[in-house]
Amino acid sequence: MKILFLDQSGKPGGAELCLIDIAKPYCDRALVGLFADGDFKTLLEQNQIPVEILTNQAIAVRKQSNLLQAFASLGQLAPLIAKVVEKAYKYDIIYANTQKALVVGAIASFVTRRPLVYHLHDILSLEHFSKTNLRVAINLANRFASLVIANSQASQKAFVQAGGKPELTTVVYNGFDPKTYQTCDEDIQKLRQQLGLENKFVVGHFSRLSPWKGQHILIEAIAKCPPQVTAILVGDALFGEQDYVQQLHQQIAQLGLENRVKFLGFRADIPQLMAACDLVTHTSTAPEPFGRVIVEAMLCGTPVIAAKAGGAMELVEHGVNGFLVTPGESQELAEVINTCVQETEITATIASQARNIASQRFDVANVNQQIAKSLKVIGDR
Ligand code: UDP
Ligand code: GLC
Repeated sequence: MKILFLDQSGKPGGAELCLIDIAKPYCDRALVGLFADGDFKTLLEQNQIPVEILTNQAIAVRKQSNLLQAFASLGQLAPLIAKVVEKAYKYDIIYANTQKALVVGAIASFVTRRPLVYHLHDILSLEHFSKTNLRVAINLANRFASLVIANSQASQKAFVQAGGKPELTTVVYNGFDPKTYQTCDEDIQKLRQQLGLENKFVVGHFSRLSPWKGQHILIEAIAKCPPQVTAILVGDALFGEQDYVQQLHQQIAQLGLENRVKFLGFRADIPQLMAACDLVTHTSTAPEPFGRVIVEAMLCGTPVIAAKAGGAMELVEHGVNGFLVTPGESQELAEVINTCVQETEITATIASQARNIASQRFDVANVNQQIAKSLKVIGDR
């Protein structure tokens, strides 16, 4: 089966990293068409996945745009749509991995009569999107998609609540190769040394810097923890959230935490860094659609505290394979961090259970089989 994957981003966010694993088995008969250049392209190339940038023009629609702006951008999309249509004739399925890819993919699917699959990585609610963008996504999916793959039950539920047809949907979690997350103790000690983290209790946060990812909540919590508790913030402002980055620096200065919070920027050595942490926290203030970082921390054997909302609630069972705290509540987060500092034995048992459960539950080989089965049904119709 030949697949034309479409993704609007040139940057490697979670949806894009997930796409690498999905496209890999099809690399001899697939193309990933991107609507922007960037590091994601390099990552696809490193994985031997054919990739092409389909437009050089930035697409103006933002997550919060209105109907007029949405229409204005359609005209701007014309050359891109023409290019995707031309490509799509050579493939059996169009696989849209993001919302703008859905818009372009839906039109191409209509013109070329190729079935459309929409991989839904978002919670389609007003917390995350404008009313217009929600309506456009739901209507296009209902009218043109043969299958909507939701990355969690939370994303599926939001899709249906916003008017999406339930019969189109199936839930497939992100898959991971557990081997990638096995690290060598010696390397980890070296890394802690290099980062000046010896003798500290290191709390890691691994997300792009963005207000709803809630790095400010962790910083607030660190101020309420004993002095050996230190945080590393791993990730960059991928989508231009520079004001937020400034706010974080101001907050750190106001709380006098300059020596206890380090920004490491975007990193490629996530398994090593996670293994170097004593704890990983996930602090999203809006419901997380899935939360790759939560599963990755589990696979590294590092205990994880997650914000209790959205897909994170499907990944973590409090006290069994991690901890859940109320989103936005820094006091509660600080209390659970302190419990982990003190109750090292129970915490280590929970982390080890989490590693075992996650290795099976999110095994990329099983996930890819699930996707292959669904695509076969669509292709055979
Ligand atoms: N990530 C990374 N380098 C960084 C920060 C994050 O490679 O410096 C990865 C992280 O390991 C995870 C992904 O980016 O696989 C983020 O995915 P997630 O689902 O947690 O959140 P998203 O950003 O997609 O909303
Ligand atoms: C999106 C979501 C994130 C999810 C990822 C992979 O980027 O924000 O929660 O883990 O897609 O499905």
